[in-house]
Amino acid sequence: MINEPVYNELIEKYKAHYGKAPEVVSYAPGRIEVLGNHTDYNEGYVFSAAINYGTFFAISRNDAGVNRIVAGDLMHEVTFPLTGATPVKEDTWANYVIGTVAGLNQIKQQNTGFDAMFLGNVPMGFGLSSSAALEMCTAKAVCQLYTITADNVTLAKVGQAAERDYAGCPCGLLDQISSLCGVEGMLVKTDFRSLDVETVDMGPSVCFLMCNPHAKHALVDGQYATRRQACEDAAAYFAKVLPHPVAALRDVTMAEWEANKDGLDPIVANRAAHPIGEDERVLLGAQLLEKGDLEGFGKLLFDSHESSRTMFENSCEELDNVVAVAKTVPGVLGARLSGGGFGGSAVVLVKTEAAESAAKAIAEQYKAKTNKDCEVSMIQPSIGASIVYTA
Ligand code: GLA
Repeated sequence: MINEPVYNELIEKYKAHYGKAPEVVSYAPGRIEVLGNHTDYNEGYVFSAAINYGTFFAISRNDAGVNRIVAGDLMHEVTFPLTGATPVKEDTWANYVIGTVAGLNQIKQQNTGFDAMFLGNVPMGFGLSSSAALEMCTAKAVCQLYTITADNVTLAKVGQAAERDYAGCPCGLLDQISSLCGVEGMLVKTDFRSLDVETVDMGPSVCFLMCNPHAKHALVDGQYATRRQACEDAAAYFAKVLPHPVAALRDVTMAEWEANKDGLDPIVANRAAHPIGEDERVLLGAQLLEKGDLEGFGKLLFDSHESSRTMFENSCEELDNVVAVAKTVPGVLGARLSGGGFGGSAVVLVKTEAAESAAKAIAEQYKAKTNKDCEVSMIQPSIGASIVYTA
């Protein structure tokens, strides 16, 4: 089983805390975003992957009439009612669980309480969607325990609503879909209009590094929401000026952007250029992968970062430095920020044979350039969320 030591630790802690064994245990991984930044809520395309780090969630029914959830690393317990639970202000990690359970309650009312605990190894603060991993392992376990039938898109939407209503982030569906649909060794390519998911094999000759320069950014709260708003404003403008229907920026080409951008506020125009360009890069990237052109695919990652840096302005000095350093390291094919931006990590596509030396070189050269540390993790595209145990 993937991450078995974490599973074993959770089972031991669960038994010690609740004095019984769980009835169900689920697992859900974090994700990397490989290409296609801020395209999900613009109904566009993304290449992502579930990663080899994830979270386990152990659960059984109780007759206490309340739900109990314990964070297995902190060993803090939060109790919340079966219905009508509102977000908590302390132990805010619990909101991802509470929000997900609330969403599932709308599909099928759970009429007994549960005793649950989760434990994971998704590195925190790397932008690897530890929150989506928690939502999706919660969803899988609760569905299994209460025999709730829901497909992946429904579960992803439950997680998205938990982020929006219980954690305050108006995110798209990328993180949850990637966590649910991951396949070992595969990229996940999602069309966020049809919500069709395909897997794409990159072969064993390349893998990923995640580089976290620990960028501390004050005042970034709400940046995601303002970017999203700018995209929606731009889509409304293009819907007026283009001769064909525009429901989202997915419907606008770079050529149409170029020809019509002068009618937009210059900042809104730049924001719109990013997801429009990203969609084109994802589609081109799919063709390159089909031909086995990994070098060409890697270059698109560098282009993506450049577009983030200059047009969407969701990068930061630290991430720019990581990408600049990675560009000079032998074996590196591409690098870009991954996820929302404004901090977090850069994802690096690297030849497998050079991965270890490249990881070391990036950390060393980043230190030499900035006198600061950059933490580098090796990432393997891995399996998606599943039930790993039932009594
Ligand atoms: C975050 C959000 C996703 C997506 C990315 C940017 O990870 O949760 O929905 O918008 O940022 O691509």
